[in-house]
Amino acid sequence: MKETKLSKVDALHPDPSLIEEAAEVLRNGGLVAFPTETVYGLGADALNLDAVKDVFKVKGRPGDNPMIIHVSSQKHLFELFDEMPEKGEILSQAFWPGPLTLVSKRTILVSDLVTGGLDTVAVRMPDHPVALGLIEELGSGIVGPSANLSGRPSPTFASHVLDDLKGKVDIILDAGLCKYGLESTVIDLTVDPPTILRPGAITKEELESVIGTVSIDRDSEMLKRSPGTRYRHYAPHAEIVLIERENREQIEYEIQRSRQEGKTVGCIVHTPLLRNVEVSEYFHALPPGLEMMARQLYRILREMDQKGVDIILVEEVEEVGLGATIMDRLKKAARK
Ligand code: TXA
Ligand code: MG
Repeated sequence: MKETKLSKVDALHPDPSLIEEAAEVLRNGGLVAFPTETVYGLGADALNLDAVKDVFKVKGRPGDNPMIIHVSSQKHLFELFDEMPEKGEILSQAFWPGPLTLVSKRTILVSDLVTGGLDTVAVRMPDHPVALGLIEELGSGIVGPSANLSGRPSPTFASHVLDDLKGKVDIILDAGLCKYGLESTVIDLTVDPPTILRPGAITKEELESVIGTVSIDRDSEMLKRSPGTRYRHYAPHAEIVLIERENREQIEYEIQRSRQEGKTVGCIVHTPLLRNVEVSEYFHALPPGLEMMARQLYRILREMDQKGVDIILVEEVEEVGLGATIMDRLKKAARK
């Protein structure tokens, strides 16, 4: 067991001495949980293979699920990508720093361990002064899977990291609630058209406005290529049941059915029509707007778990823009 230090850090102007301290931990092979604009990451020096092994171990992550390398500038891509795909250059210019992860053929500088044996590597430049400061200070890339136990919802608050990884990481840099609340979009540039492997905070529509056609491939071949998408994921302990939009009958039926089975029910709704259904024990009516739902979703799921909710009814959203990402996560969390 490690002694986990929780350090508050100013999100916009992080104290340089704190960043130095955290970078020193990474240099010594330790683990630092750090904030990004999407979710908290579990950081280790990407060049230190023992530290990378530790990350797999503490998360309980299958070894064939590759990790993202976080960088602090576009220049790093030339060391990590065997060849710079033209669309990769355009995308990084348009969206970095930001919640977009680029996948392309890797150089020999990248270890098999990081990529789970794949011949590609995933790279992103986070839009967060703390994350960028840490990478700069270390002077090389940081692997950063989401800082949760494998399969759980990603942490959007430092306390979520503590709940999952207390005693397993050296420092948690606490910069408050993450801006997006959902993970980055992962796009594969080795195929044409480029293909979204994991929908995320940057939408397909936004990507297409910059590089033209982008596909989202959900067939098994793709799932093999992004192993992380294969498992039940993003899931609270409670069972998740999806409710069709504005389907009052369905939500009322599910509330009743769950109660009859003696289960504690939680609801997350967002349309006016479902705001005043016969209130279940834990009821969250979200304000309209997908951004808000994205930002709050994991936090609410974790809160309901803490309250001992057995079953969470979640109203679906329309699968466009950020809604496609939200539905991707909800379906994966609902998968048994
Ligand atoms: O927003 C994010 O991306 C967060 C923050 C901390 O940066 N990180 C994150 O990492 O979500 P993780 O490890 O939880 O998810 C990485 C995803 C997984 O689905 C993994 O399979 C996929 O990226 N991935 C990583 N390397 C890949 C590769 N070479 N080819 C295909 N997919 C890859
Ligand atoms: Mg994750």
